[in-house]
Amino acid sequence: MKKIGIFYGSSTGTTESVANAIANKLGVSASDVHDVAKMTADMVKAYDLLVLGTSTWGDGELQDDWYDGVKLLQACDLKSKEIALFGCGDSESYGDTFCDGIGVLYEELKDTGCTFVGNHVDPSGYSYGSSIAVIDGKFVGLPLDEMNESDKTDSRIDEWIKDLTV
Ligand SMILES: Cc1cc2nc3c(=O)[nH]c(=O)nc-3n(C[C@H](O)[C@H](O)[C@H](O)COP(=O)(O)O)c2cc1C
Repeated sequence: MKKIGIFYGSSTGTTESVANAIANKLGVSASDVHDVAKMTADMVKAYDLLVLGTSTWGDGELQDDWYDGVKLLQACDLKSKEIALFGCGDSESYGDTFCDGIGVLYEELKDTGCTFVGNHVDPSGYSYGSSIAVIDGKFVGLPLDEMNESDKTDSRIDEWIKDLTV
């Protein structure tokens, strides 16, 4: 069994609650769901699959706690790690930078030698203008919009985690 750790950066609690929902569905215990602000290298070392969640702030920027989180991850050996990304955004009010934070995390981690999973999410079910999280026609992680499409979150998570557990 893969040991799964979930790390979230969340300013108003949305990504945190989504992280808990993902944990429930994956059967990950609450003790393996962490605020990224408390992440340490030893915690990273303990997991095979790191599920990383960020909301997007400003104009397509990472949630604040991820700036240090990214530096910490880049200093770790991630070659044997799988990484899955998810994010929360607002496709109506911020449609041109929708869930860009996922794309920023991807860019920051793509040269670490990690293996991304859950990184081919079909954008066709989303309404948005543009997103740097779309690369070669797919979202490189799971975008969620709790502001406008919270009714779709459950089924989006269900579909996505199939890719994480194979
Ligand atoms: C000032 C501000 C800027 C935002 N910028 C973006 C953005 O560029 N792209 C996006 O998809 N969502 C954006 N959002 C929406 C948040 O990402 C969304 O509300 C998210 O659910 C917050 O999650 P959190 O509580 O976990 O931090 C913004 C929200 C605010 C208030």
